[in-house]
Amino acid sequence: MATIGIFDSGSGGLSVYRELAKMLPGERFVYFSDNAHCPYGDKSPEYIRERASAITDILLGMGADIIVVACNTATAAAISYLRENYPEVPFVGMEPAVKPAALGTQSGVIGVLATAGTLRGSKYLDTKGKWGGGVRIVEQVGKGFVELVEEGLLDGSEVESTVRASVQPLLDEGADIIVLGCTHYPFLRPVIQRIAGNSVRIIDPAPAVAKRTADVLLERGLIGKENVRNLEAVPDTVDSSFYSSGLPDSMGRILRYL
Ligand code: DGL
Repeated sequence: MATIGIFDSGSGGLSVYRELAKMLPGERFVYFSDNAHCPYGDKSPEYIRERASAITDILLGMGADIIVVACNTATAAAISYLRENYPEVPFVGMEPAVKPAALGTQSGVIGVLATAGTLRGSKYLDTKGKWGGGVRIVEQVGKGFVELVEEGLLDGSEVESTVRASVQPLLDEGADIIVLGCTHYPFLRPVIQRIAGNSVRIIDPAPAVAKRTADVLLERGLIGKENVRNLEAVPDTVDSSFYSSGLPDSMGRILRYL
C-alpha cells in the first residue's frame, strides 16, 4: 500500500483528494491543510516555499511515498524548489488546464480563473505561450472564492454575487470554456455553471492530476495496475487522515460534500 501525501493552503485540495481516492481507493492518504496561513494567493513565492518545505517534512514524517501539491499557487511558487531539495521524493503538481481548453474552444476565447500568484507564475506563462497562440486567453482572479470555500459557503445569494463578479467578465469576452486554476474553485462549480449557462464548459484538472499520480506510483512499482480504479464516489473505507495548521472546522465542513 502506498502512502499519498497531499497539501493545500486550506480545504481546496480536497477537490483533488476526492479524485485520488476514487482512483486509488486502496491506498493510504494523509492530507494537510495549511489553513493557519491561508490564502496563499497573495503571498510571496519565498513565503510559500518555506511553508511547502515545512509541510513536506511533516508529510514525509508520516510516511508519504509521494506528495501531491494540490494547490496551483504552491505549485507555481514551490514545486521546482521542492524537487531540487528533495530529489528522492516524487512530487505531482497542479497547473491550469490551458492545453485542453485551447484545443476544445469553439469561440476561440478561453477563460482562466486562478489566484494572482498562479497567474504570474512562470509555469503558467510558459503554458500560455505554448498553447495560447491561436486562441485568446482571458483571466480573472476568483476574488473572495477561497474565503467562501474555507467558510463552507458554497451557495446562496452572497455566494452567487461574489462568483458572478469574477465570472461575468469572462463571459462578456466570449469565453466558451472556463478553466478552474485553483483547487478551491471546484467546490463553487455548480454556481459557476449556473452563472455561465450550460453552453460553457468548465474544466477542472483534478482527474488528470489523479491519473498522473497513479502513473508515477505505477512507474515506481509502488502500486500495481489492479490498484487503479475508477469509482463514482469516494468509498467510506478509504484510509485517510486529515491535519490542519489551524482550526479543523473548515475541512470538516467541506468533507461533508465529498
Ligand atoms: N487552493 C489554492 C490554489 O489552488 C490556493 C488558494 C489560496 O490559498 O489562495 O491555488
